[in-house]
Amino acid sequence: MVAEAKPIVEEHTLDRDCTTLSRHVLQQMQSFSADAQDLSALMGRIGLAAKLIARRLSRAGLMENALGFTGDVNVQGESVKKMDVYANEVFIAVFKQSGLVCRLASEEMERPYYIPENCPIGRHTLVYDPLDGSSNVDIDLNVGSIFAIRQQEGMDEDGTAQDLLQPGRKQIAAGYVLYGPSTMLVYTIGKGVHAFTLDPSLGEFILSAENIRIPEHGPVYSANEGNFWQWEEPIRDYIRYVHRHEGYTARYSGALVGDIHRILMQGGVFLYPGTVKKPEGKLRLLYESAPLAFVIEQAGGRASTGTQEIMDVIPDRLHQRTPLIIGSPDNVALVESFIQERQREAADLAIKT
Ligand code: AHG
Ligand code: MN
Ligand code: MN
Repeated sequence: MVAEAKPIVEEHTLDRDCTTLSRHVLQQMQSFSADAQDLSALMGRIGLAAKLIARRLSRAGLMENALGFTGDVNVQGESVKKMDVYANEVFIAVFKQSGLVCRLASEEMERPYYIPENCPIGRHTLVYDPLDGSSNVDIDLNVGSIFAIRQQEGMDEDGTAQDLLQPGRKQIAAGYVLYGPSTMLVYTIGKGVHAFTLDPSLGEFILSAENIRIPEHGPVYSANEGNFWQWEEPIRDYIRYVHRHEGYTARYSGALVGDIHRILMQGGVFLYPGTVKKPEGKLRLLYESAPLAFVIEQAGGRASTGTQEIMDVIPDRLHQRTPLIIGSPDNVALVESFIQERQREAADLAIKT
């Protein structure tokens, strides 16, 4: 018996409905107002910077002068990598022609970078960590970029950007780009958290997960345990606790963006507490902790210094660092419980003496 012939033209359905980043922002804003158009264009520009960085990262091993250190030390006192400089300049170049932002403030620049020609029209500041986890870059492991958009509320003459010294709740948008096996852009404008995957054949970020919710609890704890000797006792107590209980597993990549992305999707906690050498921890409030706190809060998680919500911390300087405990609400609360227990014990002791 002859099998029934199949139609020659099979029906092809699209994997996704191909929502692009800029369209998604407009949908979220439910408006075509000037503000909505600006925000959509801003996100589009961040996407362009991400594509340029991803492109260079994918070929860096074949290029002369793309990898390794520059020999300089940045304002943070950290050795600068060539890819740090490239990524920083990409954001500047992409926003210079955009008319969208008057100022950029980055981990790699001591003072904010002004684009005077944009200032009459661009009412926003972009704060960013151009390349996060740059120790991974020379060994082909995941790195990221972190960003936030804030309203520009002043023009400072002395470069201290006083109007930026406001809590994370003032962020209009925030997110990160993860340069991994694929390039992903995750963002929030305060209406949930959404992920886009770069389709290299299209050169477009396409919506791949909408309204992501972080699990209430997760198995992962992510900390550099090489710092155990320099941590305060409550953090050591927490680490001893997870070592002695079933259900926890350690994951630490050396790049915050990758570690946080895992936790966003699968639950758990990332912590970078204060150390003896760095009592405020290592991570920077304006370009690392506050943007990631906005994302994680929007997904139903929490971000804390141990005693205060990260989103409420008022910076007193541009490059301020902060301890960071971020992730699933139950896991963050567990870490905090060890900190609070010690505080109670200290208060009781003070009363008795
Ligand atoms: P950056 O490369 O932007 O300086 O950030 C590195 C950060 C962060 O990504 C990572 O979680 C942390 O530093 C790693 O620090 P340690 O090497 O001290 O663990
Ligand atoms: Mn970083
Ligand atoms: Mn960096």
